[in-house]
Amino acid sequence: MINYTLKQLYSFEAVVRLKSFTKASKELYITQPAVYMQIQQLTKNIGSDLVNIKGKKVSPTHIGKKFYQTCLRVISTLEQSKADIEQSLNPNSGHLEISVATTTNSFVSRALAQFKNQYPNMTFHLEVTNRKLLLEKLANHNSDLVIMGEPPTDMLLSAHPFMENPLIVISHPDHPLLKNKRNTIKAISRETLITREQGSGTRITIERDAGMKFNSEIEINSNEAIIEAVQAGLGIGFVSKHTVQLELENNIIKQLNVDKFPITRHWYVVHSAKTTLSPIAQRFKDFIIESATN
Ligand code: PGA
Repeated sequence: MINYTLKQLYSFEAVVRLKSFTKASKELYITQPAVYMQIQQLTKNIGSDLVNIKGKKVSPTHIGKKFYQTCLRVISTLEQSKADIEQSLNPNSGHLEISVATTTNSFVSRALAQFKNQYPNMTFHLEVTNRKLLLEKLANHNSDLVIMGEPPTDMLLSAHPFMENPLIVISHPDHPLLKNKRNTIKAISRETLITREQGSGTRITIERDAGMKFNSEIEINSNEAIIEAVQAGLGIGFVSKHTVQLELENNIIKQLNVDKFPITRHWYVVHSAKTTLSPIAQRFKDFIIESATN
């Protein structure tokens, strides 16, 4: 097996590129004899001369030329990786992998836009999905940060609650049940109910906390599509109040008064307790918590 060190590769690359031991030693901040020794050891390890030396002139041999190409590839990969690491450790840039529950979509998108304004060099990938898939991401360590309701208790996580997430019942503005001051769960259960898909935290919470049994007749895996369907008069929907704020303000949709509602949950910013957050992930976590309290 041929053995060589990175120091030897860097020395050889500099000597061939600069055609001089003296120039290479200046660039590498080591003495000229030290550079010479590196090349000698490399020559010994490879078992073939790598450079021809004529007076002060240095040029690569045939094998030296081939090996020089290998050195360039190795050094370029190492330098790229060094640059990538430096970039992700830089608190003002770096890359953020973030996965969020569908209910937090608009809050997080706004927060990311403001954050990106403050740190224009940062990059991010935002995944919007339901609770079931968020749990998988946490288990597989696929995201720097996860924003969700009720973190699981069977994983070693750091979870910080930062905002209330009220779950409400919504209807078309002409719905007859709007006339009642309060509606029982039994009364609304007789209506056409539009529910989120299995695996949605919104659905799990409503079934558990309001004791509702959804029959999955009409399931929609998007809050926005549920709002559209309710607006079109298809039935009664169950969503986070944060997802329907504009429609409520503009009276396009109404909030129904129903026993046990609103169900108040919290959003949490969550990550594995075992990993140290990158500087940019830590900054975004702090930013989210701060934005919610202001
Ligand atoms: P989900 O979100 O219904 O999209 O799973 C629930 C939550 O807020 O965690």
